Amino acid sequence: MTAYTDILVKPARPHVWLLTLNRPEQLNALRSNLLGEVRRALERARDDEAVRALVITGDDRAFAAGADIKEMSELDTASIMSDKRQANWRAIRQFPKPLVAACNGYALGGGAELAMCCDVIIAGESARFGQPEINLGFIPGAGGTQRLTRAVGKSRAMRMVLTGEPIDARAALEAGLVAEVVPPELTLARALDLAELIASKPPIAVRMAKDAVLKAYEMPLEAALDYERKAFAYLFGTEDRKEGMRAFVEKRKPVFKGR
Ligand code: CAA
Repeated sequence: MTAYTDILVKPARPHVWLLTLNRPEQLNALRSNLLGEVRRALERARDDEAVRALVITGDDRAFAAGADIKEMSELDTASIMSDKRQANWRAIRQFPKPLVAACNGYALGGGAELAMCCDVIIAGESARFGQPEINLGFIPGAGGTQRLTRAVGKSRAMRMVLTGEPIDARAALEAGLVAEVVPPELTLARALDLAELIASKPPIAVRMAKDAVLKAYEMPLEAALDYERKAFAYLFGTEDRKEGMRAFVEKRKPVFKGR
């Protein structure tokens, strides 16, 4: 596999890649090079039919403690607007296959935003989610004001964004930000199990299911329902749909081929 400096990428389960943020001494701060590497790894995963799901993780201390403040400190309005980080974030949020975040420790600023770009978040009990940008004189810039509000509701999002105070894993579960909380030593294994289960499902239907759920955030209800109906009809033309129903009738396990 390609060599990276700020991340590690390896196949971890059948059809599942594990992407590990790997700047532990800097709490996995998302410097520009790291984000570019995440983008390149996702592009490779997108183009590889054998990859059906990814897990993104950090280490015990941090999923990621945000954008790299040292790197960003000298940027001004013009340079940040033309910065390639914007394109990297766009590529990450438009990744079409399922992403599972396995979060222990700090998920702050861009780290929380990266977790929220994932489709499912599994949190260890040690996880802390926050948007501390206000303490630095600015606001979240990679979706934090929008995704967090949709995930936890206005009042909790306001409290987090206006004070910069993080919430712990239990509060994140209660608010609906994360799907599950597990002991920290089980976070990665649970995320990989989940990704493996998703990767065993018919891949075209999985991609369309991800897309359809995301439409709930992006479209008015009637347009989104229309999208769902069309995706549903489209899937009737796939070999995997025929195989799924045939296998049920014949009382056997389906063999999905991604066709
Ligand atoms: N950027 C750059 N370096 C960071 C960093 C960050 N976001 N977070 C931590 N580090 C570095 C520290 O500078 C330190 O490096 P040195 O040893 O070289 O000094 C190392 O990681 C360990 O960090 P601490 O010594 O601070 O560890 P701690 O346990 O005392 O504190 C912490 C942990 C509370 C998370 C603290 O590091 C912290 O507050 N970090 C900044 C969090 C933050 O503000 N994130 C938002 C960034 S802005 C953003 O993300 C914008 C966006 O939306 C895209």
